[in-house]
Amino acid sequence: MLHIKNLTKTYDNGVKALNGVNLSIDKGMFGLLGPNGAGKSSLMRTIATLQLPDTGSIQFDELDVLKQPNELRERLGYLPQDFGVYPRISAADLLDHLAILKGLTNKGERKEVVDGLLAHTNLFQHRKKAVSGFSGGMRQRFGIAQALLGNPDLLIVDEPTAGLDPEERNRFHNLLVSLGEEKVIILSTHIVDDVSELCSNMAVLGSGQILLEGNPIEVTTRLNGRIWRKAVSLQEAEQMEQSLNVISKRLLAGQTLIHVLADEAPEGFERTPATLEDVYFSTLNASRSQAA
Ligand SMILES: Nc1ncnc2c1ncn2[C@@H]1O[C@H](COP(=O)(O)OP(=O)(O)OP(=O)(O)O)[C@@H](O)[C@H]1O
Ligand SMILES: [Mg+2]
Repeated sequence: MLHIKNLTKTYDNGVKALNGVNLSIDKGMFGLLGPNGAGKSSLMRTIATLQLPDTGSIQFDELDVLKQPNELRERLGYLPQDFGVYPRISAADLLDHLAILKGLTNKGERKEVVDGLLAHTNLFQHRKKAVSGFSGGMRQRFGIAQALLGNPDLLIVDEPTAGLDPEERNRFHNLLVSLGEEKVIILSTHIVDDVSELCSNMAVLGSGQILLEGNPIEVTTRLNGRIWRKAVSLQEAEQMEQSLNVISKRLLAGQTLIHVLADEAPEGFERTPATLEDVYFSTLNASRSQAA
């Protein structure tokens, strides 16, 4: 179990990226959902011991993460958002090399681990190809393979599905699900469906603060009966934003479909089941209007 207490971080340029973050994360898949600039990567790099916070503490089981970074790293797998360097060596050779760095010095054992991870990530048939020539989806799967070296019990993956096509995203989701419930897995994303499809627990991060925490189904149920929708023109949508609590606008077949959060039906609206997207947008809107 991971306990994060009162984490704050202000960068040298004055940006307050983390502003009193408290979180407790159990085994299983945890979704950290937030828009660009929310502080997701800052939080993940801090947990991965790549940067220090200004204040706060992180506890992983019996480890004091900030005081025992080396011990944490032995139990950590990390796929950074910008896993950027793709050398022109084959996937098998690169993974073998990374395995040596992880301390897998026995050659026979290492081959077994490397081949096993390549098979698990569906890359075995591509193992002799250069990683630099991999597609986005293959790179992300390779990223998971390297993160799983050493069988970590804390796995951090930072926006792994951004830019993947639907088929590759689905494949990546299945890969994450196959890792089982025995690890603490933290997945950051700005894609609501990643969380609703994969995660048993989640938090919404906005402007460096935890705005909402819970089980995706439970937090969605809380809004049930209070979400109303109507298809309107773009102009009408703008007017309604003045008078109603509009939480989202989206285009549907050339019309603007708006969702409103309210206890009673606004005129001409029909009730619609709440979705995690409604939860996400209403949470972000509420925090933005509070800040304004
Ligand atoms: N090394 C840094 N120096 C200065 N400012 C930074 C640094 N890293 C991040 N920031 C700023 O801190 C804030 C949070 O950034 P962070 O990358 O943690 O957000 P994020 O939620 O991961 O965003 P994204 O979805 O775009 O990846 C942003 O305003 C960003 O510009
Ligand atoms: Mg990020």
